[in-house]
Amino acid sequence: MTVKETDELSGTETTGHEWDGIKELNSPLPRWWLWTFYATVVFAIGYSLYYPAIPLIKGATAGISGYSSRAEVAKDIAMAAEAQSGIIERTRNSTIDQIATDDELRRFAVSAGKSAFKVYCVQCHGSGAQGAPGYPNLNDDEWIWGGDLETIHISISHGIRNDQDDDARLSEMPAFGVDELLERSEIAAAANYVLKLSGQEHDAALLGEGETVFADNCAACHGEAGKGDREQGAPDLTDAIWLYGSTPELILTQINRPKHGVMPPWLERLGDVTVKQLAVYVHGLGGGEDSEPE
Ligand code: HEC
Ligand code: HEC
Repeated sequence: MTVKETDELSGTETTGHEWDGIKELNSPLPRWWLWTFYATVVFAIGYSLYYPAIPLIKGATAGISGYSSRAEVAKDIAMAAEAQSGIIERTRNSTIDQIATDDELRRFAVSAGKSAFKVYCVQCHGSGAQGAPGYPNLNDDEWIWGGDLETIHISISHGIRNDQDDDARLSEMPAFGVDELLERSEIAAAANYVLKLSGQEHDAALLGEGETVFADNCAACHGEAGKGDREQGAPDLTDAIWLYGSTPELILTQINRPKHGVMPPWLERLGDVTVKQLAVYVHGLGGGEDSEPE
């Protein structure tokens, strides 16, 4: 049995515990501490009622607020999607020129166009749109069909020489060799003339014949001066940019048995919005030209 007694010095009751003559005073807890403690108890009860708190087998009690962090995230996602759909809707309702001149739409188009390009275009045009033999570089100023927004948009929408799209760009360089449209010597003279046009080493003795062959058979598409014709997708032959190659052999091959580059159509497959974004992206790569004044 412990005996409670009052400590003489402090006048406080002891707990009755005694260790080697030392006794413990039974001092009450400070008021402020006690009230804070009660307040936290009340808060905890309120909190547990208001928010999901008590674990159940599946999930937890819902709490009267109905709050759920998962629902919060879902709401955020829905809001982001709505914000995006707003800009997608505006892209859909804008012409490419409007997209290209609106800061926000253009920035969105360039980043969306860039990701679409990575998925659908790099296997032919290269990861930096730098092109490869047979596939044009899209960064430079040379355009086979044209480099303003509208023209690029048409090239991408319908493609080139494919049989899936009735509006695909068409034009075929004749196979002067395999179809025996020209003699071998005429073909050699024409190839030599192309070397001269592009400022490369050539045989001066063949130039006269080459010029005639060119004027009669090639100028209709490539132009009298060999500068090309975008209406027909006939490349400029006077510069250092080549689709198939600059060497005498490759030029001879192209005249004998021309390759007809094919590009798939994208409008139906990717939809209006993505194709517009691709056009704005490609136009912004470096070689984009201003639209022709109407
Ligand atoms: C299967 C290969 C292939 C794929 C994939 C491809 N292209 Fe092409 N693209 C070509 C070829 C080949 C040409 C050149 C055709 C010609 O000789 O006129 C071309 C031409 C173009 C041109 C016209 C260039 C000019 O100088 O006028 C544009 C613009 C273009 N492609 C954009 C794209 C975009 C954007 C994509 C992706 C959506 C794409 N291409 C995917 C093969 C491809
Ligand atoms: C009906 C129009 C047409 C005629 C005629 C024509 N070409 Fe072409 N030529 C083209 C087209 C289109 C291309 C591009 C082919 C492609 O994109 O696949 C081309 C490409 C070329 C190329 C390859 C250019 C490069 O950048 O690699 C050479 C070289 C060429 N032509 C030379 C000639 C010569 C020489 C003649 C005359 C003997 C001739 N062409 C007649 C339409 C024509």
